[in-house]
Amino acid sequence: MSKSINVRTPSGNYEVLVGSKLLEDYNFKWLVQNRQVLVVKDSNVPNKILENLSISLDNSEAKQVEIMEIETSEKNKSFEGLMPIFEVLNSSKFNRDCLLIGLGGGITTDMVGFVAASYLRGVDLIQIPTTLLSQVDAAIGGKTGINFSGSKNNIGAFYQPKLVLMDTDSLKSLSKLDFVDGLAEIIKHSLIADKNLFTKLENIFLNDKDLSDAELTQIIYESSLIKAFVVSNDEKEKSDRALLNFGHTYGHAFEAIQSLEGFSHGQAVGLGMICASHLSLLLEKISSEEFEKIKNLIKSVGLPHELPDNFNEDDFSEAMSRDKKILNKKLRFITLRGIGSAEITEDPPDDLVLKSINL
Ligand code: GLY
Repeated sequence: MSKSINVRTPSGNYEVLVGSKLLEDYNFKWLVQNRQVLVVKDSNVPNKILENLSISLDNSEAKQVEIMEIETSEKNKSFEGLMPIFEVLNSSKFNRDCLLIGLGGGITTDMVGFVAASYLRGVDLIQIPTTLLSQVDAAIGGKTGINFSGSKNNIGAFYQPKLVLMDTDSLKSLSKLDFVDGLAEIIKHSLIADKNLFTKLENIFLNDKDLSDAELTQIIYESSLIKAFVVSNDEKEKSDRALLNFGHTYGHAFEAIQSLEGFSHGQAVGLGMICASHLSLLLEKISSEEFEKIKNLIKSVGLPHELPDNFNEDDFSEAMSRDKKILNKKLRFITLRGIGSAEITEDPPDDLVLKSINL
């Protein structure tokens, strides 16, 4: 059984499906029949997942199916990394009516999305995210792109897919770390928009329960519903979509500094969410009980909840001020107004920001 979400944006509406056995059972015919299809697969995706997709595509009467694999590292998320994809499209004479399928984690869906946005000025796209992080974050909302000259995701386009399939079976092969990375974004969605989801997560993770398949589908669905709602209301991040950056202003700084090298995105965001909640507490927008509850949930899923001993505050301030320069000297923090509600706080005083990282 799968659950469906409709994303409605000015540049197009599409369905997001969440459930198990989707790659085996989904009937792609309406999108694939008589078309040239290129599947771009993340090299980390197990072959079994690709096999299931290939069988479904064959049954859907595609005119031509090409499959290629890409290396998915932040380094390869670059112009050079895109070239082989454009080369296959070009050498196989893919026309404007072709269809691209991104099969993999967030790096893959971001890269393939950008190719779809730009090849022949835009061709159709299906996103099949296979990690928890890409399911609940990257694959919904049409942000696509690559890294350039040391900055992340600074070249890209908003480009909405025609369909997003989140097959929960593909999560079975994930490492604990990859899984926890996705949980960070699910917690984020609950904190900014859904107190009931937060309580549900507390019931699962504070009691150290094993997550059943049904619970997993449900929390991915509820989390994706929040993301879909936010991007439906603000596709191009002119206002409320910025709330999805809760924990990310700190997180990006943490990802950039030496003493936290090796931190994954989810770990940096987890810690960032604790700091952003602490800032909310210092600004008297949440209570100390709420702060403790947030910290406990983040800790209970296995995300870091304190800074390492060798953490260097000067490095942190420098990373923050680098961002400040890019953003015209204003830093934008997302703060909470209670659990389940968030708002933008522009440029809080530096001393308060420094205080907020002392956990
Ligand atoms: N990951 C934040 C957004 O999609 O806007």
